Amino acid sequence: MAEDLSVATGTKKEQYLSLIPQIQGLLEGETDLTANLANIAAALNEQFNWFWVGFYLVKNDELVLAPFQGPVACTRIKKGRGVCGASWQQQKTLIVPDVEKFPGHIACSSLSRSEIVIPVYDDDKIVGVLDVDSEHLNHFDDVDQQYLEKIVALISFQ
Ligand code: SME
Repeated sequence: MAEDLSVATGTKKEQYLSLIPQIQGLLEGETDLTANLANIAAALNEQFNWFWVGFYLVKNDELVLAPFQGPVACTRIKKGRGVCGASWQQQKTLIVPDVEKFPGHIACSSLSRSEIVIPVYDDDKIVGVLDVDSEHLNHFDDVDQQYLEKIVALISFQ
């Protein structure tokens, strides 16, 4: 496993295309879920330097904070609450260009302006979400959705 991440420049697509094989390398041969989620969050943070990136995992019918990079965050989110809980309930990726316009948005930080949340599946069951926050408005688009969905699909729960 390479221990240093090679941080790419170029378009957002080029950055994801450089990052994905490196994430595959980080996950290869490692079965520990916490270790793998921690390295995915760290790799995404190194490449994109977002305000906050990390995971929430479903535990006892709530989302509970899991490995992340960024400022401290709320620890528990109920189904349907905030962007994370809505993504879980609706079983789809949600892109929020302006969090102030999202009813029920949970403001872990007042600096967060836009957000993308991707459901994480184990087979066909949602077991968590990947949440990314930006301090810039309208920061995420379908390119982020496409590649972040590919990245969470690399996670093994076996
Ligand atoms: N803003 C999220 C809560 C999680 S924090 O941003 C890390 C939401 O509305 O679900």
